[in-house]
Amino acid sequence: MGSITRDEDAPTASSHPLKIFDAARRQDRFLYACAPMVRYSKLAFRQTVHKYGVDLCWTPMILAKEFNRNQFARDSDFTISTSGVQPPTIVQFGANVPLELARASTLVAPFASGVDLNCGCPQSWACAETLGAALMNKRELVRDMVIETRQHLERDGWGVRMEQDMENPKGRSNRLVDWVTIHPRTRHTPSTTPIRTEALEILTEKYSRTLPILLSGDVFDLATLPIRSTSPPDLATLTIKEDPPSNTATQQQPRPSTTNLSGFMSARGLLANPALFAGHSACPWETLETFMCNVARCPLPLKLVVHHVQEMCAPGMGDDKSSLLNKKERAKLVDFTNMADLIDFLDEKIEEHTGQKGMRRDL
Ligand SMILES: Cc1cc2nc3c(=O)[nH]c(=O)nc-3n(C[C@H](O)[C@H](O)[C@H](O)COP(=O)(O)O)c2cc1C
Repeated sequence: MGSITRDEDAPTASSHPLKIFDAARRQDRFLYACAPMVRYSKLAFRQTVHKYGVDLCWTPMILAKEFNRNQFARDSDFTISTSGVQPPTIVQFGANVPLELARASTLVAPFASGVDLNCGCPQSWACAETLGAALMNKRELVRDMVIETRQHLERDGWGVRMEQDMENPKGRSNRLVDWVTIHPRTRHTPSTTPIRTEALEILTEKYSRTLPILLSGDVFDLATLPIRSTSPPDLATLTIKEDPPSNTATQQQPRPSTTNLSGFMSARGLLANPALFAGHSACPWETLETFMCNVARCPLPLKLVVHHVQEMCAPGMGDDKSSLLNKKERAKLVDFTNMADLIDFLDEKIEEHTGQKGMRRDL
């Protein structure tokens, strides 16, 4: 939704999200994003997907009110790397009060590349609290939250005025948000139902000229993206994956210039295969190793690590249904009661499957 910079604090110029959008657009390549995922998109996972081609990472949704009031919530909800790679990170908040979002955003501003407001979570508890998808019926409230947040950040000296803030301190303020992510399903559509590409097309045709748009939903494999190009590029429209191609031009790999999209965000696809955006159709062993090494440096609770490993070792969401471990091997994962035993088991499997020494050589 919005980027944050302050010249003297900017870790590196390239972590400014609008610069990342800009660089991708100049190269006519899609920007790749790791979706906000409650429980899962923690630092070790963000570092892993960043190594494998993700440009911009989201944190899980963080409740702004609790974040503002509770040190424990701050410590457990938001972890950054103080050494080594800090992937460009957007902090997603759940909020329904302008001052809460503004305060939480100023708290994370020194440590993040941007902030995002969750307007899509369909869960009943969230909607009952006027959070997530419930905000779609509260447009004025969303506007007020964004305005107040921008004002607070600006008052604190942060650059929040769109593209010009990358170069020019005066900035530009004719848009409220820097980009949007669209998940083309309704609040009641199950994730097993394919995304509504025709609805996406209506929105992207209208807004893509003024606003970068990311598509979230059903991005499982770069070879079978849920949209495709039409030709010529100026007349680009989005068509559904299931349509038979009408000519050879429609079979080309989509690019930003042949669609109305700036990039793709993935949740379930990356969970199963963090190397998705590096072009791998299934999770490679080395990606699992990378994740485990990141976990050793940026720890996660054992149960969560096991869950990640189960996801990465099972058949993925795309057409490639190969898996690192078979069902029986995966079933064993839940028996581990400590990290050392899990690492030993995975080391054994790595050696068995690849003939290479496992993770302990890196730790
Ligand atoms: C485990 C899990 C947790 C999620 N948590 C969040 C969240 O915190 N905030 C959010 O906006 N969306 C959340 N989502 C929704 C995803 O960001 C994404 O929009 C949705 O899963 C569709 O993308 P996919 O087809 O790539 O999974 C979550 C999805 C999953 C699977």
